[in-house]
Amino acid sequence: MFRKITTLVATAALSAMLMTGSALANDPIKIKFAHVVAENTPKGQMAIKFKEMVAERLGGKVVVEVFPSSQLFGDNKVLEVMLLGDVQMAAPALSKFDRYTHQLQIFDLPFLFKDMAAVEKFQKSDKGQELLKTIEKKGLIGLGYLHNGLKQMSANKPLRVPADAKGLKFRIMTSDVLAAQFQAIDAVPLKKPFSEVFTLLQTKAIDGQENTYSNNFSQKFFEIQSHITETNHGLLDYMVVTSKEFWMSVPEDIRPELKAIIDEAIVYGNKVALEKDLEDKQQIIDSKRTTIVEISEADRALWVEAMKPVWAKFEKEIGKDMIDAAYQSNM
Ligand code: LMR
Repeated sequence: MFRKITTLVATAALSAMLMTGSALANDPIKIKFAHVVAENTPKGQMAIKFKEMVAERLGGKVVVEVFPSSQLFGDNKVLEVMLLGDVQMAAPALSKFDRYTHQLQIFDLPFLFKDMAAVEKFQKSDKGQELLKTIEKKGLIGLGYLHNGLKQMSANKPLRVPADAKGLKFRIMTSDVLAAQFQAIDAVPLKKPFSEVFTLLQTKAIDGQENTYSNNFSQKFFEIQSHITETNHGLLDYMVVTSKEFWMSVPEDIRPELKAIIDEAIVYGNKVALEKDLEDKQQIIDSKRTTIVEISEADRALWVEAMKPVWAKFEKEIGKDMIDAAYQSNM
């Protein structure tokens, strides 16, 4: 009798263990996608599209959770925690990879790209694709580039010529190129997280900042800055990124479909980026809360002249061949 009970208990325990084992094996792969912008932005929309497509095409096998607006981690932390396995996907601005590779700083060089078509052309080229791989030695995998747009400068005055920015404090992302760019016009750059910019502007701890129309609109910077000067001086673009450890843990029969979905979500996000750049500019104009200042070609030439020396300063770290190739994409 005793033996019978023991056998029953043992059998029950074994089947419970097996069930747990099989439940684990069938558990969906969880992807936490953390980012810092609002949902109504190119990156926010890309992440939602990605989540929806995964549910549709890999339902039951992979589940995506999106955490917008720095809810989970800010961009300055997200890559660190990704390497620890706390987050599986993110899309930080290319300017925020400084600690992992200096080569991506190419995208911060002022006045390098004349428009988003040139950016797209360079990123699709062999050299552009080579840059995606520069973070692999740090355990990260670049899954693709995602656009936002060209940056404008905001302040509580018009910035028609570089001298207008002299002595002003500007918030920048964590990039030495961006620091050099503002130093080149005798302004003061301060590296600060995206989530703090509104408060820093509101409390006048900083005088201005550089960002796209999309971010100026969705973060309401335009409500607390009297002028946005349309300089189009630099690029805000992202890299969709994951950790090598996570990526290699995705079963081989799922990985290609997951990558295909990411690629499609990026195409969608890029379309949103182009639309939002125009739409959000219009929304800012319609709000009448700030003035958008357009500068003349002659004034623009002064900005280029003042900031262009930054290229030479970073040529060694980035590679002259890389810079030449990127510049050629404007032709
Ligand atoms: C910024 O920090 O200004 C941007 O990188 C935010 C973003 O992700 O668009």
